[in-house]
Amino acid sequence: MGRKKKLIRFKENKSFEKLFEPVTLELMKQDHEFKGKWLSDYFKRSGRLVLELGCGYGEYTVGQAKMMPNDNFIGIDIKGARLNLGVKQIEEEKMPNACFIRTQVEMIPAIFNKEVDEIWLTFPDPRPDRARRRLTYPLFLDRYKKVLKPNGSICLKTDSKELYDYTCELIDSLGYKTIEKTDSLYESTLLEKVPYIQTKYEKRFLAENKKICFLRFSF
Ligand SMILES: C[S@@+](CC[C@H](N)C(=O)[O-])C[C@H]1O[C@@H](n2cnc3c(N)ncnc32)[C@H](O)[C@@H]1O
Repeated sequence: MGRKKKLIRFKENKSFEKLFEPVTLELMKQDHEFKGKWLSDYFKRSGRLVLELGCGYGEYTVGQAKMMPNDNFIGIDIKGARLNLGVKQIEEEKMPNACFIRTQVEMIPAIFNKEVDEIWLTFPDPRPDRARRRLTYPLFLDRYKKVLKPNGSICLKTDSKELYDYTCELIDSLGYKTIEKTDSLYESTLLEKVPYIQTKYEKRFLAENKKICFLRFSF
């Protein structure tokens, strides 16, 4: 994407009501105003609270919000130009059960408190050379533990067999619970259970004939 197009999207982002852009330094000093109160004070609705981390254009957030109108969905990514498309869609369609936050995934303990039912990691960067930056590295899992309800679960969808194997082994070694998994979603009966939504990256990987892995686990 060109610089000019990005700048237009950044400017447009400032006008969206359903996009939060908290300043990291401020979040380090003070928790987000809706921490622990997203359902009661922001959405003002009941239902589940579901996060998509590293959501990019937000296809899972928007898609699940449409499929499950009684639940509530928040997409998080650091790239504002990508978020722009998802936010535009939920504002245009006046969807009451979705919003986006532009921030680092690292900041989620300052934004949520044991109130999240489910976390989706949709095609996170596999980071073959930098395990510490993987969204399933133990430090990230500790952050997810702080925001999830005790019975909450985490779903990973990835084309990277390496990231999938790494995460499955980690979950076992840490004594966490694998709920369901497959290293070939489109050849698995799990396909019926996983919301049929394909993100931009998933479409690209499918076009390259890559297999899609899926894992759901809890602490
Ligand atoms: C490979 S893309 C996948 C995007 C989208 N989920 C999809 O499937 O099309 C990974 C996304 O994760 C975001 N990301 C990676 N690390 C992040 C972090 N620590 N905090 C926030 N966003 C992050 C990137 O900005 C990027 O949009």
